[in-house]
Amino acid sequence: MDGAGAGRQHEMKGGLGPRGRGLFGRLLDGLRGAPATRTEAVSIAIASGKGGTGKSFLATSLAVLLHKLRRTVLVDCDFGLACDHLLLGVKPTLTLQQLLSGQATLDQVLVTSPCGPRLLPGASGVRRMATPSDKDLLSFARELGTLAAREEVLVLDLGAGIAPATVLTMLGADWIVLVTQPEIAALVDAYAVVKCIAQLHEHAKFLVVVNRVGTPGRGELAFERLTEVARQHVGVQLVYLGEIPDDDAVMQHRLGQLPLVAIEPTAPTSVALAAMVQRLHQLTGGLRAREVASDQGIEARFRQHRLFL
Ligand SMILES: Nc1ncnc2c1ncn2[C@@H]1O[C@H](COP(=O)(O)OP(=O)(O)OP(=O)(O)O)[C@@H](O)[C@H]1O
Ligand SMILES: [Mg+2]
Repeated sequence: MDGAGAGRQHEMKGGLGPRGRGLFGRLLDGLRGAPATRTEAVSIAIASGKGGTGKSFLATSLAVLLHKLRRTVLVDCDFGLACDHLLLGVKPTLTLQQLLSGQATLDQVLVTSPCGPRLLPGASGVRRMATPSDKDLLSFARELGTLAAREEVLVLDLGAGIAPATVLTMLGADWIVLVTQPEIAALVDAYAVVKCIAQLHEHAKFLVVVNRVGTPGRGELAFERLTEVARQHVGVQLVYLGEIPDDDAVMQHRLGQLPLVAIEPTAPTSVALAAMVQRLHQLTGGLRAREVASDQGIEARFRQHRLFL
């Protein structure tokens, strides 16, 4: 029986509707041995096959826009080559490196960016962080679990490709936004990520963003090629989130400057990004934190998949 079916049967036996259950229902669940539940943020991993497709640009822009709707934290999961702090205009002194080694707490490492969302900064140029140990991965999973329990939305900016920490974060997240560019090399690498993840998690939910599109509409054409190959070869249905124009204003972003979506909200690129947030809002049922069984949350999923990598 599926989870919803089991829940319905449980309610019939207990005689309480979903609203009547509350603390009492959870207490009963505990006594009956059903797994406890907890509230978790919607987690969105930003991934790509090829490097430099625009993940960090998208992740920082989405975090700024999502924070207007829900309490959002951006986690820079690019182990070793983090840069989100530069794009958000903050200068952190502590990073994921100190957090994972136990030298700092989550609250000491989190920084609030001028545009609102908080950032868990990654380490940059630290070789040890580029190849995290198993202990690092377990600590990282725990911190993601803690953040998910406190926040409403987590945006996880990943490094390119399929390194173990990157794959685990994708498998842990509720949604995977795959960022590609319209050219064939990027599409081939995006397909490689879909194939790799689908082998480990057949129900992974992929959304596709085509970035740096020169001619309007080319993004959707590129998406159609990608989704057709994914459907035929791995039986995965991809969902189109939209395209972002190739925009000189993005390239010319200077250190310390605030993100384009904040300083030029009516520019075509900002409008395209805002439309993606609306679409995410629809697809996720309002970007609301929701109840999950404790053994089904982001930390548990990350840990479980770790055993199979
Ligand atoms: N829509 C766009 N128009 C013009 N330039 C863009 C656009 N999106 C990203 N860029 C530029 O492309 C470069 C790479 O972007 P970004 O760092 O976001 O990619 P990434 O996928 O995070 O890279 P990495 O794989 O190294 O983490 C940056 O110089 C950025 O300014
Ligand atoms: Mg990046």
